[in-house]
Amino acid sequence: MTETRRMNCERLRARVMSAEDAAALIASGSTIGMSGFTGSGYPKAVPLALAARIEAEHAAGNPFGVRVWTGASTGPELDGALAKADGVEFRLPYNSDPVAREKINRGEMEYFDMHLSQVAPMAWQGFLGPLDTAVVEVTAVRPDGALIPSSSVGNNKTWLDRAGQIILEVNSWQSAALEGMHDIYYGTALPPHRVPIPLVRPDDRIGEPCFRCDLDKVVAVVLTDAPDRNLPFAAPDAVARAIAGHLLEFFRHEVAKGRLPASLLPLQSGVGNIANAVLTGLLDGPFDDMTAYTEVIQDGMLDLLSSGKLRMASATAFSLSPEAALALNADMARFRGKMILRPQEISNHPELIRRLGCIAMNGLIEADIYGNVNSTHVMGSRIQNGIGGSGDFARNAFVSIFMTPSTAKGGRISAIVPQASHVDHINQDVQILVTEQGLADLRGLSPKQRAQTIIDTCAHPDYRPALADYFQRAREKSYGQHAPSLLNEALSWHQRFIETGSMRTDGR
Ligand code: COA
Repeated sequence: MTETRRMNCERLRARVMSAEDAAALIASGSTIGMSGFTGSGYPKAVPLALAARIEAEHAAGNPFGVRVWTGASTGPELDGALAKADGVEFRLPYNSDPVAREKINRGEMEYFDMHLSQVAPMAWQGFLGPLDTAVVEVTAVRPDGALIPSSSVGNNKTWLDRAGQIILEVNSWQSAALEGMHDIYYGTALPPHRVPIPLVRPDDRIGEPCFRCDLDKVVAVVLTDAPDRNLPFAAPDAVARAIAGHLLEFFRHEVAKGRLPASLLPLQSGVGNIANAVLTGLLDGPFDDMTAYTEVIQDGMLDLLSSGKLRMASATAFSLSPEAALALNADMARFRGKMILRPQEISNHPELIRRLGCIAMNGLIEADIYGNVNSTHVMGSRIQNGIGGSGDFARNAFVSIFMTPSTAKGGRISAIVPQASHVDHINQDVQILVTEQGLADLRGLSPKQRAQTIIDTCAHPDYRPALADYFQRAREKSYGQHAPSLLNEALSWHQRFIETGSMRTDGR
């Protein structure tokens, strides 16, 4: 049941309407800035109504499509529904919805996957074109019209400022105790007017708890009562536990050497099961009083907060399993002082990541023997998700870690290859590479030293001889000997997989 008491602004009361009526205010061909970040805080009713309208228009023979911008991935009621209706002409900056992914990979949807810290500045610079409508989920509207943000902040500040018209979804499923957890910084500007961002510790508050909004632009308010939808995390398996174990050992070693403080440095943990498993691993580690300056708060981070080992976490969104989201909602007041949600241009800001000295931990699709990392494109051409915030963090972190199982698809693919089929993170941005086989510390190594270390430490034993053989022959026959490569052969592993369904040569 929807709660009208979440909508406390008299001026907006007359604009309360159904999702269908609100969706009717969106024109074909328009650009919509939606809230939402990894299945949290996305609008749940208007996109569904818009998808139904698009399907009806298509059935009547009328073309209808929109351009959709968000914070990052959303939920099935947004990305899934609109993609299913063939309603999205253009999408940015991140997608992990399977239906949309399929359309993108079939060439039926244009997709601009980009560094998440750069979305808001680029929208302000004007390269992306005008923003016609903002559709933003909020927790409540205060009597003065201030908007209490939802379970993600993402790019909502920018959408509310830039859009010609605004549609609000007031979701009473979100905990009222979210109020006060957000820190919305209004001090960003474009050059030559940029000034330093006054955040020097992960728990600094530099902004306001609510969004400001020009109420004259609000054309519709839709009341909802619907849960965020994130996928459950897989329980850490032996591979994930081994990766976590190697990382913990590395942290212990760095503390012993005096290169990291005993409470570590602010943690950034990427998306996915392995990243979540590493956080779970930290529960049993010797580090206390830790902090996080990261993009999303996952189940593992919530457990660390609960245990007290993590003092506080700053992020732009929750990325929780359904069970953890329900548990947090029921207990939000307890966590309020320990978590801060910020706009993604601040959570992922290169200046702040560099200043705070974050420990960046991200997943990958494949890495090559020189340490170049592909986070996004399977076999060089099929997008999985997108670069997300991994580039924001990897380039600017104090230590940049990438982690992966050493094989994929039941062992038919090696995650360590002679040459990455697509590069998101150049080797200079990849300092530590970890698989269940071991951890390669690549700091200060030349390309040939990196290759030897990665093959010996990270590659799966089934693929190690073939990689060593390739590297040996490259050292004999390569055009240059700085980063030896056999160009014709380097990507033949991927081609073999495309043609035979396996990178193996032994028929297994
Ligand atoms: N070749 C082909 N497919 C591969 C592969 C490889 N080398 N490595 C992984 N995959 C496939 C898996 O088989 C799986 O496919 P499925 O969904 O059909 O089962 C899929 O990619 C996801 O892999 P999974 O092992 O479940 O990985 P994950 O949940 O740990 O996520 C990434 C790994 C790379 C997909 C994820 O970390 C990502 O999207 N990263 C980019 C964005 C990012 O880093 N954001 C965080 C910044 S804050």
